[in-house]
Amino acid sequence: MKNDAFISIRNVNKYFGSFQAIDNVNMDIGEGEFFSLLGASGCGKTTLLRMLAGFESTSDGEILIDGQPSADVPPHHRPVNMVFQSYAIFPHLNVADNIAYGLRKHKLSKPQKQEMVDEMLELIKLPGYGKRKANELSGGQRQRIALARALILKPKVLLLDEPLGALDKQLREQMQLELRALQRQVGITFVFVTHDQEEALTLSDRIAVMSGGKVLQVDTPEGLYEAPKTREVASFIGNMNFFQGTVRRNGSSEAAIETQGLGSIPISLEKVTKPDGAPVQVALRPEKFELLEEEPTGGHFVSAKMDKTAYLGERSHYYVTLDGKSEPVAVSSTNQFVARDDDRWKEGEPVWLSWSPEAVVVLDAD
Ligand SMILES: Nc1ncnc2c1ncn2[C@@H]1O[C@H](COP(=O)(O)OP(=O)(O)O)[C@@H](O)[C@H]1O
Ligand SMILES: [Mg+2]
Repeated sequence: MKNDAFISIRNVNKYFGSFQAIDNVNMDIGEGEFFSLLGASGCGKTTLLRMLAGFESTSDGEILIDGQPSADVPPHHRPVNMVFQSYAIFPHLNVADNIAYGLRKHKLSKPQKQEMVDEMLELIKLPGYGKRKANELSGGQRQRIALARALILKPKVLLLDEPLGALDKQLREQMQLELRALQRQVGITFVFVTHDQEEALTLSDRIAVMSGGKVLQVDTPEGLYEAPKTREVASFIGNMNFFQGTVRRNGSSEAAIETQGLGSIPISLEKVTKPDGAPVQVALRPEKFELLEEEPTGGHFVSAKMDKTAYLGERSHYYVTLDGKSEPVAVSSTNQFVARDDDRWKEGEPVWLSWSPEAVVVLDAD
């Protein structure tokens, strides 16, 4: 990354009347980064994006873009451009005129504009489509035109507000890969808004998880998934099992967590900062467990009872019950080597669960 703080959002709050839509947000976005804002509807993603674009002012705090305070800079003078969910392309203009729309006030010759449009059509993989009418295009093609129309202005930052939200699942997954490749190719900073965690994980270099106007955690996809810092983030990204626990320290070189359900788990010292006796939670993702028919001879394991099984094709989901834990534990495994075998796991039968202490995430108690 050329500049780790290409966009700096500092102590930003936003009020609509007495309602606080953005609550003390602080973060930096790097130059050339694919950065996503992820959170449920209403958490403030669009509001934050609109403040970056300059369509909305901050109530307090500061946004710097490329080192420049942006408060007094109107939208059209910011080095940013925005792409919306509704394709917002003009149905009465052809593709080339749609793409060139933002250039109409630029002093460029016709051949210059034509060359820029052709370059954009190549970029979005629609060469030769310039004369097509906008209403002759599919949803995916229209969204690509909208991207080209924003990129032709050579913004330093592209803001994308749920741009794939209106596409069906298959097209959307294809467009995700294309969007990622396109961002790599043009190398500009993308700030991408989505409520879809899989989409954010697929596309992003880093993700800010938002809730109720706050940023809960900013991290890489792997960081959020493997090392969530709070229960809220852990349960928002993927599925997570939680176990109540108590820190047990034996001198200063060893630590373990005594859990309700999984017994005592040794934990590396960097994962537990709390003193002996402190309450904590232990979190383990469903796929971090291995289901076994027989008692293992080593490692970490507990006996359990199969409660429910669900075959989902590429993987199966299971719920097992453990002594000492009231809610069932979710377990997931791929069916890579296993043909469908209804007889293997019978509901109500005893099973064994094993796991590696390295997969354990330690969180503060609720
Ligand atoms: N112009 C506005 N006036 C009043 N409330 C607003 C306005 N814009 C957004 N809000 C409120 O701010 C909150 C965040 O909205 P928004 O940023 O659109 O969320 P998201 O994009 O994450 O779905 C919502 O509760 C929304 O109703
Ligand atoms: Mg929104």
